[in-house]
Amino acid sequence: MDCCLIAMLILYSFFNINNVCFATDDTITPNKLLRDGDTLVSNGGTYALGFFSPGNSQKRYVGIWFNKVPEQTVVWVANRNNPIDDSSSGVLKVDRRGNLAIFNGNSSNPVWSTSVISSPSVICKLLDTGNLVLCDQNKGDFLWQSFDYPTHTIISGMKTGFNRKTGFNWSLTSWKSPDDPSNGDFVLRLDGRAPESFLSKGSSVIIWRTGPWNGQTWNGIPLMTSNFIFHYSFINSLDEISFTYTSKNNSIFDRLYLDHLGLFHRATWFEDTRRWNIFFSAPGDACEHYGKCGVFGSCNSNNAMICSCLPGFEPKSPIAWDLKDGSQGCVRKRSLFCGNGDGFLKLEKVKLPDTSNARVDMSLGIKECEIQCRNNCSCTGYSSAYVDGSGCFAWFGNLTDVKEFTEGGQDLFVRVDAVELEESKRHSKGSFTKKKLVLLCVLVVVGLLTLISAFYYLFNRAKGRGLACKERLRKLLFDLPSSETNDETNATFELPVFDLNSIVVATDNFSIVNKLGTGGFGSVYKGKLSYGREIAVKRLSKNSGQGVTEFKNEVILIAKLQHRNLVQILGCCIEEEEKMLVYEYMPNKSLDFLLFDQTRSTSLDWAMRRDIILGIARGVLYLHQDSRLRIVHRDLKASNVLLDAEMNPKISDFGMARIFGGNQTQANTNRVISCSGYMSPEYAMDGLFSIKSDVFSFGVLLLEIISGKKNTGFYCEDPSMNLIKHAWELWSGGRPLELVDHCAMGTSFPQQEVVKFIQVGILCVQEQANDRPTMSSATFMLCNETTIPNPKQPAFILTRNFNFSNSSSASVNEMSTTIIEGR
Ligand SMILES: *[C@@H]1O[C@H](CO)[C@@H](O)[C@H](O)[C@H]1NC(C)=O
Ligand SMILES: *[C@@H]1O[C@H](CO)[C@@H](O)[C@H](O)[C@H]1NC(C)=O
Ligand SMILES: *[C@@H]1O[C@H](CO)[C@@H](O)[C@H](O)[C@H]1NC(C)=O
Ligand SMILES: *[C@@H]1O[C@H](CO)[C@@H](O)[C@H](O)[C@H]1NC(C)=O
Ligand SMILES: *[C@@H]1O[C@H](CO)[C@@H](O)[C@H](O)[C@H]1NC(C)=O
Repeated sequence: MDCCLIAMLILYSFFNINNVCFATDDTITPNKLLRDGDTLVSNGGTYALGFFSPGNSQKRYVGIWFNKVPEQTVVWVANRNNPIDDSSSGVLKVDRRGNLAIFNGNSSNPVWSTSVISSPSVICKLLDTGNLVLCDQNKGDFLWQSFDYPTHTIISGMKTGFNRKTGFNWSLTSWKSPDDPSNGDFVLRLDGRAPESFLSKGSSVIIWRTGPWNGQTWNGIPLMTSNFIFHYSFINSLDEISFTYTSKNNSIFDRLYLDHLGLFHRATWFEDTRRWNIFFSAPGDACEHYGKCGVFGSCNSNNAMICSCLPGFEPKSPIAWDLKDGSQGCVRKRSLFCGNGDGFLKLEKVKLPDTSNARVDMSLGIKECEIQCRNNCSCTGYSSAYVDGSGCFAWFGNLTDVKEFTEGGQDLFVRVDAVELEESKRHSKGSFTKKKLVLLCVLVVVGLLTLISAFYYLFNRAKGRGLACKERLRKLLFDLPSSETNDETNATFELPVFDLNSIVVATDNFSIVNKLGTGGFGSVYKGKLSYGREIAVKRLSKNSGQGVTEFKNEVILIAKLQHRNLVQILGCCIEEEEKMLVYEYMPNKSLDFLLFDQTRSTSLDWAMRRDIILGIARGVLYLHQDSRLRIVHRDLKASNVLLDAEMNPKISDFGMARIFGGNQTQANTNRVISCSGYMSPEYAMDGLFSIKSDVFSFGVLLLEIISGKKNTGFYCEDPSMNLIKHAWELWSGGRPLELVDHCAMGTSFPQQEVVKFIQVGILCVQEQANDRPTMSSATFMLCNETTIPNPKQPAFILTRNFNFSNSSSASVNEMSTTIIEGR
């Protein structure tokens, strides 16, 4: 018997080395089914398959998840659109016709089935790659595999793309919400129209694209190159166009997924922190949003004006352009006279335009590419397809979605008219003679030598000082000698250290002219570094002894956080008596500066207000659940929301924030009480804070942004008039739109949407913390068409016993001594 089996096995491997089609523990056979509650584990133990309920849902789905990751992370769902209602009746089995199917109890109609032409001798097996396959025991080839039906995640070995022969496509479709895996709005697909992937909402609105494949990576994601752990490959043949990513080390758990808000992430499981670390998300900065600068525009997120026009073009609508709306794009300054002196200008390091209207010819080199483009007057630009210079893209028509990179990207040649060509020649050439050139060369060499020696000297000096400074930082923050470090402290030391001198110079010795205001624990100054970058410097008041804790808190926390809606820290400086934090400079000041000023608030139309609200929501959501830590900000308010040049909101001031442990949902502090209108009742009265107290503050902020009015702190001042009460009265009286700041916003705004925002705002400020939505459901409601619960009465009336005299004795000074616990 044993002998027979071995002989069979040898025979099998002889005919098909990779054959996996024989029954083992990780299989479902016509005689062995899988009930709800059972799990099937792949033979290396990497993946598991079974019934599950996502998030808060009660519905049952069959899915595959990482078996060794404690936080259940589903990578594939079979019956995403046809769940089973209860957890007692689901069965996964091979049916009479040999298809894998999910049945609800004894019902004879499956809720889901593989629906392929099959045979009775099939088995179904979960491979250790995470691929669920259906195969014929007698033949050994796959009749069906889950890798052919991706849901919202790609794991190692999976393909996305399009089969040109069969029309079969492998695309990702987002979940509807974290609780609902059914098909959501967002789709990422590589469908063969162009050698690049597009992320779109619905079937037509493009949100982001990867840029074309350049031989090594996607042209629009220069950081994503193959390395010693990950390998990317791209196939573009007559049969198929596809992208595959493989992880070379199968003990590293890694996934690419599309979330329900339409963001595409790359995440890796970190065993040390026991969290998914997201190290890539798209669309990231403003320039990654498809067509941000319109047709023939070019986007550069390092510039104050992110949009500019390609050479030879000018803004179509200069007014909109000045208002920083580049979406209408650019038009030619002068018309082309084909072949009459026009030519090409080179743009370096760009994300190439949308290749949907490009002709791709991999057999041409760059010279032939130029000739092909030059000879056809409707060709607007060309470039090499691959970074090694091979292949040709030639565009016919609009050049859309060009982005400038500082590193990476490719050269793009744009067709321009004779005048533009002449002007650019004059610019770049100047009037050099040979003699001058030689002289210049000599000067450059001498200059370089001097510079190198100077750098060498400075570098050595700075190295010494930098170390000393880090040492001081370490001491201040953790009271640790350098030998004792852990990951926590190390993250903080990634922070660049500025030396005092350069900051003194940058801020003109903290000149009063440069003072921007007073932040959480000291004054904030504007500064300009020697190479032109503008910064904001927060300087801890000297000798006061106050605020050291907030300072520590902020350094430790913010160094680890990175999100486009959080203000970014550039470094710190600790020298002598000085303690300072250096941030990116926000030219549009803080939200309260604009919002509560009658004149200035007129510059905020509904679209801007909406974007600000959504930006804040994403920032808070990131703090609450997407960052590596779970953070409660505790001090969300209009003055802590800063606006960058494009009016993107960025949350600042983490002096009060707290890190929450994995399961901790609420904490207590006995040193609160301020008259802030942003404080939830449980926080103001009992000192209880949680993510729901942040949600409350967010709700207040939302209502303020819509109404242009400030909420007064109702626990301390005259509570007769406050914004929440006002909003509630209008809402329950059926007149929510009267809340809107009509002076500033006029009357032309989408009423339904505004009403929805108000409703969500009121939900967030409900009296009971449990009634308030989480930040992710609030964000989801704001961004999607969905049913929104009716709010209960919010917190504006003191319904609980509350002893004023007792708590009002706590002063604001005491408040500033809350610290991070558990260190
Ligand atoms: C399903 O079939 C089993 C076994 O035949 C039986 O015991 C059970 O009562 C049936 N359930 C339903 C809901 O019909
Ligand atoms: C390819 O995918 C898209 C989006 O999921 C779908 O609309 C289309 O029908 C698919 N095409 C084929 C041939 O399956
Ligand atoms: C795979 O990754 C694990 C965990 O990071 C590491 O310990 C191991 O050495 C790696 N194996 C290979 C072959 O690189
Ligand atoms: C130029 O290219 C367009 C678009 O591919 C094509 O339709 C047209 O025939 C070409 N014209 C010439 C003169 O080759
Ligand atoms: C090119 O862009 C213009 C302006 O946005 C648009 O009207 C036109 O339809 C575009 N042409 C094509 C072929 O997409």
